[in-house]
Amino acid sequence: MKYTERVIDEKIQGKALITDLREGNIKKLFIESYGCQMNMNDSEIVASILSNEGYNTTQDLKDADLVLVNTCSIREKAETTVRNRLKKYDHAKKYNPKMKVGVLGCMAERLKEKFLEEEKIVDLVVGPDAYRDLPKLIKEVDAGRDAVNVILSKDETYGDVSPVRLNSNGVFAFVSITRGCDNMCTFCVVPFTRGRERSRDPRSIIEEIRSMEEKNYKEITLLGQNVDSYLWYGGGLKKDFKKASELARATAVDFAQLLDMCAIEFPKMRFRFSTSNPQDMTLDVIHVMAKHKNICKYIHLPVQSGSNRMLKLMNRQHTREEYIRLVNKIYEIIPEMALSQDMIAGFCGETEQDHQDTLDLMEHVKYSFGFMFAYSERPGTLAAKKMEDTVPLAVKKRRLQEIIHLQQQHSLHRAKEQVGQIQEVLIEGTSKKSDLHWKGRNTQNTVVVFPKEHYKMGDFVHVKIENCTSNTLLGTAINYSDNN
Ligand code: SAH
Ligand code: F3S
Repeated sequence: MKYTERVIDEKIQGKALITDLREGNIKKLFIESYGCQMNMNDSEIVASILSNEGYNTTQDLKDADLVLVNTCSIREKAETTVRNRLKKYDHAKKYNPKMKVGVLGCMAERLKEKFLEEEKIVDLVVGPDAYRDLPKLIKEVDAGRDAVNVILSKDETYGDVSPVRLNSNGVFAFVSITRGCDNMCTFCVVPFTRGRERSRDPRSIIEEIRSMEEKNYKEITLLGQNVDSYLWYGGGLKKDFKKASELARATAVDFAQLLDMCAIEFPKMRFRFSTSNPQDMTLDVIHVMAKHKNICKYIHLPVQSGSNRMLKLMNRQHTREEYIRLVNKIYEIIPEMALSQDMIAGFCGETEQDHQDTLDLMEHVKYSFGFMFAYSERPGTLAAKKMEDTVPLAVKKRRLQEIIHLQQQHSLHRAKEQVGQIQEVLIEGTSKKSDLHWKGRNTQNTVVVFPKEHYKMGDFVHVKIENCTSNTLLGTAINYSDNN
């Protein structure tokens, strides 16, 4: 299975460290995150809230006064990884008995008080909408009481919290624009752990991006479980939009408008967004993308399955034909667009024919990247309650392998298409394989590796693509672009 930055549940996102430590803060916070990019961003919000409470981050677990783990529930394996990690904390606590341990994120929301019973090491359980309550909850723990807040909110977006950047390369950053999800895909735990959908005030989004620009960041990814569903009408749940005043509805800002505003306001900043949902994506978004050079030509457009029967059982609200029509239209408006997928192999009742339909859909779209998973039943979801997890694990794994194998061929095909082109690349770090080479990404989100020469981190560079593997382009820089 190929992991990328997007879904990292079985890996630790580094032992997060704030680069700008606040003077006078003497308490030490060890914070680590699993799962989606939203979790990484939430940890930055948590670090910011606790920075006002006298905490600086540490990378040394044994040294920490407070250990926080931001968790993921999306698949069973993600939860098992966190449980194993808690054992490591248990070990560290032997050296430092005063250390307190808190669980944040989706597992906290899913398991609630049960966490305290099941894992003796845990002192504190805090759901994704309750991070503002952390200072109070920590005081409870310090007073010797257990502390739990897993209340989901109607309007919390942390819009006014300026996240401290953890493990940042200083080149790209993530800015949350919506929270929660209303889509209720039958396999997915997110609507239960992250609550109903709400959008963040565009002014606070713009202000956060401005502060990132002042710090010299070059690329912003707008984040949400379902960015296309973004709708600001003065605050509140998306589902209550119809009840808003006429004025609020008339002046509402949707995702296409937000994207347009960002691209115009920050012409030197490069923009990405994730994740798109086919049922909510409008062609307005594609037209805005076509209009602006600084919006990357890449859409993560999960489909989960190529079979209409499965899409229906998954409650995906669109057919295979509608998805193909959308993809065709996207390629028509922006021919160089790169698309990526999420696929689930072996959902309830999936037959060999359904699986073939998935492979067939992939042949049609020829995605540049893919994030592929074997179906994992999640307690509390409609699929867990109403459908039978019929596909044997061995069959799920075989189908998953076939999907991954086909995706690798398509990734190679898409990479080869780019050989010979001159592309603009934003340098984001040293290549993993060679200290003498930079790595960066082009507009389509493909990694490009090239000799360092005199270029530096954060430069936009024109690179001539000379060769490729299935997930990396290799080339040589030819000059500075006008974006510098
Ligand atoms: N809209 C979200 C989706 C989060 S879940 C986003 O921002 O990315 C990410 C992916 O995990 C889904 O698209 C789906 O492919 C996969 N997934 C979700 N629930 C799953 C389950 N129960 N078993 C296997 N994979 C699952
Ligand atoms: Fe999950 Fe479907 Fe929302 S995958 S996050 S319920 S769009």
